[in-house]
Amino acid sequence: MHTRIITIDGPAGAGKTTVSKLLSQKLGCIYVDTGALYRGVAFEILQQKINWEDDHVLEEFLKTLDLNFIMEASGLVLMSSGRDISDYIRTPEISMLASSSSAKPQVRSALFEIQRNIARTKDAVFEGRDMGTVVFPDATHKFFLYADLAIRAKRRCDEMPEETKDLFRVQKDMETRDNNDSKRKSAPLKPAEDAVEIDSTFLTIEEVVEKMLGYIEKAGQASQSC
Ligand code: DC
Repeated sequence: MHTRIITIDGPAGAGKTTVSKLLSQKLGCIYVDTGALYRGVAFEILQQKINWEDDHVLEEFLKTLDLNFIMEASGLVLMSSGRDISDYIRTPEISMLASSSSAKPQVRSALFEIQRNIARTKDAVFEGRDMGTVVFPDATHKFFLYADLAIRAKRRCDEMPEETKDLFRVQKDMETRDNNDSKRKSAPLKPAEDAVEIDSTFLTIEEVVEKMLGYIEKAGQASQSC
């Protein structure tokens, strides 16, 4: 792979999305939210009422799955069979199903090539759970971003409309997802051995991005884009 790839892994609510977007802007490269792909799988499972826990049913379903990103002015947009599904994949139900169905190795391998293909031609910041460990073991720079559970839950709640805020539920759901994502056998959430780990509990987004740019600079590649 001759492109510059920066990976940012970590649990939900650690600030990965905002940090990845800002970092990609500063570096002049694209930003890829790989969680959207797992959410796309969960969306189609729900739409088509698939019994995904049955391996045979899941494999047949994955053969028909047609997920891809298209480039728009605002960034990459997730399409499923030609339809923009980005507005439908952020519900708590989809978050939970994306987390549980992503433990299936068949789901992970169905999405592997989509991610690798983007990286073949474009410099990018990739955000996810297994970017530095499995999908891009040869990435140019790897980061692992985490924060205390209570802080992550509060941050997520702060982004929600007043009428749907429920700190207890958000924290519980996050804890369940943390457990699913880090205890699964296939590509569990964990820092790559060569990742720089950043605790964002007491840092602002800007401070996290500054830290990352500092590491990238130190590695001698600051003056170039991505
Ligand atoms: O980043 P996110 O919250 O949108 O991800 C939703 C779920 O998808 C997450 O709980 C686990 C799964 N996921 C994964 O297994 N591997 C990735 N690279 C990204 C997400």
